[in-house]
Amino acid sequence: MSGLTTLEEPQTLRATMFRAEALAAEEGPSISDSEYRSRQQRLLGGLEDEDLLLVVGNPESVRSNDVRYPYRNSSNLLYLCGWHEEHSLLACRKVDGEWSVELFVQPNDVVKEIWEGRRPGLDGAEKSWPIDKAHSIENLDSVLCEMLSSCTRVFIKTGLDKKVDKLVMQALESKGRARQLSGEGPIAIEDPSARIAELRLRKSPAEIEMMKYACKVSAQAHIEAMEKAGDGIGEWQLQAIIEGFFQWNGQTWAYPSIVGCGDNATILHYHANDKACRKEEVVLIDAGSEYCGYAADITRSWPIGGRFTEAQKEIYQVVLDAQKAAIDACIVGAPYDAPHHAARRHLAQGLIDLGISEQSLEDALSAGGDLGKWYMHNTGHWLGLDVHDVGAYRMGDYEVLLKKGMILTVEPGIYISDRIPVPNGQPNIDEKWKGIGIRIEDDVLVSENEPEILSFAALKEISDLEY
Ligand code: GLY
Ligand code: MN
Ligand code: MN
Repeated sequence: MSGLTTLEEPQTLRATMFRAEALAAEEGPSISDSEYRSRQQRLLGGLEDEDLLLVVGNPESVRSNDVRYPYRNSSNLLYLCGWHEEHSLLACRKVDGEWSVELFVQPNDVVKEIWEGRRPGLDGAEKSWPIDKAHSIENLDSVLCEMLSSCTRVFIKTGLDKKVDKLVMQALESKGRARQLSGEGPIAIEDPSARIAELRLRKSPAEIEMMKYACKVSAQAHIEAMEKAGDGIGEWQLQAIIEGFFQWNGQTWAYPSIVGCGDNATILHYHANDKACRKEEVVLIDAGSEYCGYAADITRSWPIGGRFTEAQKEIYQVVLDAQKAAIDACIVGAPYDAPHHAARRHLAQGLIDLGISEQSLEDALSAGGDLGKWYMHNTGHWLGLDVHDVGAYRMGDYEVLLKKGMILTVEPGIYISDRIPVPNGQPNIDEKWKGIGIRIEDDVLVSENEPEILSFAALKEISDLEY
């Protein structure tokens, strides 16, 4: 069992906490003001002098009565200025020939701050965030109307904030009339999402550090779960170990953890996490943390009792080989789909070699072929401020080619349910295969040399998972 010494010895609580403290004490990476400024300049450099860019913050969501879900701001707003508070709007316009980056924020309010916590307020925002001017969100109507009155095009993704949409539409309408009379006034509205996505797709060195840090904590969280698991442990308890570890280390989950044991592992977006695990089952855990907005996305599948059955092991090895082949395909210049094709080929051949599929390789790979019965999803997606990050996969007829700085997940799997018929009916396969779900997911940075696996610390070799 290389690299997993804690599985060989009884784990003491103290030793585990000590390691967690060590991680928490590490100084986490951050994004500098100059990087935020350069992101703003790259975006604004593509706009015209009389354009107005608006980036709407996420709304708050109610959980029950006056209890709200933990707040998380929109990824585009985080990307452009790092502002994480609720009730915000970023507005960029040219003032005296220079781009001015302005942020609407909640003002200081003694009573609200007694009840809800400290706010940076306008002064704090101007002092400590990469912006030129802060406005009170309470003055949104008047200040935004003034901004809208002097612009020609508005760049905004509509549908996110009814109040902002209404002000923009009213301005466009009244300007339309003004234009009819005087030949002046704003005419167009454009969604800036694709322009921002283009910037976000390739990660800067600082962003890579952020994501490495999220991956480091997430990988260790998976190992904590492996170490503490045993016959009878609840899926929810494994979830608690993992998500508690994120929180202990100052991070949060990037998406609700999937913890599925036995046949539950074959449910792609399983979320009940309410079954007790048995030692002869394989558990699939898809869990990743978020650090300052940046996500990790890791899946590991391993035997609760420390030993795979022969059938589980054979399926696992097929998925692992497919995953390694797919990671090898994450090289500069390869089409985005190259890892998917590599994984599919290995998975299909593996199913044929095991006798699960009796088709030829080409038939198994074809539309409607056997592979689709047990591998229903894509092999990866962009990863960044969003778990399923922004950025095009195709440009018309052309697939996007992988470039240095892109980060994507590589996550093939095989899912053989023992109770849900696969699409078009469960073929007549041996019972020993049923109830096995395996996915192995890593986060991969495309670099000049070989692909860099950011989540490398999460163990995945059979010899590391068995004891
Ligand atoms: N955790 C979501 C995904 O793997 O896409
Ligand atoms: Mn994923
Ligand atoms: Mn995942």
